[in-house]
Amino acid sequence: MSKMDWKKKPLEDKQIREEVDRFYREIVTGQREITGNADDLYASLGYDMEMVQSLPEDVRSGLSCGNPLEKLMLLPGETLLDLGSGAGMDIFMARMKFPDSGTLYGMDKLPEMVKKAERIRDKKGMENIEFVVGSLIDMPFEDEKINKMISNCVINLEPNKKKVYEEMYRVLVPGGMFFVSDITLKQDLTQGMRDSKDIYGT
Ligand SMILES: C[S@@+](CC[C@H](N)C(=O)[O-])C[C@H]1O[C@@H](n2cnc3c(N)ncnc32)[C@H](O)[C@@H]1O
Repeated sequence: MSKMDWKKKPLEDKQIREEVDRFYREIVTGQREITGNADDLYASLGYDMEMVQSLPEDVRSGLSCGNPLEKLMLLPGETLLDLGSGAGMDIFMARMKFPDSGTLYGMDKLPEMVKKAERIRDKKGMENIEFVVGSLIDMPFEDEKINKMISNCVINLEPNKKKVYEEMYRVLVPGGMFFVSDITLKQDLTQGMRDSKDIYGT
């Protein structure tokens, strides 16, 4: 067998999702530490650091891999959905950048993440923000509900990408827009990486 056999599927989709959930549950419960300085990361991604530093430290979790807010423009009253919102970083940034926009929704698969984001929202007294438990492949939103979507380092975690894009299309209003930052593979993974279950979460 060659070093890189793309036909070999190490884990079933269900197992991949379980590994991803385990990884982020360990993060949100403090059993797994994120290495590196989160503020350095946000600065390198072009975030407005004055806004970042106005947020509590526990929302600056350093889980992002890009800046979907860079090109985002929200008109007054427009709704936004963040797919895989984690502790709510991009939702809180969007609220500060676009104070006149409509409801900002953050959706995450883990109830623990949603609770954490809600606690931070309530502590900061930020309004017109709702966090909901939901999956990229089964979004708890009616058809054509959302004007704009963002996602930061989440779509790579879901094996069924076709279903993700079908759901995005269903939930966005006609002519709606999405702004995604994510990771792509530029070279082969080493065998050690391919054998590591943690790689599904990173
Ligand atoms: C890398 S973190 C990014 C969090 C946030 N977007 C940020 O930039 O801080 C990935 C998040 O996506 C969530 N997640 C993973 N798979 C998901 C799925 N299929 N549907 C919804 N959320 C998912 C995880 O629970 C975790 O909170």
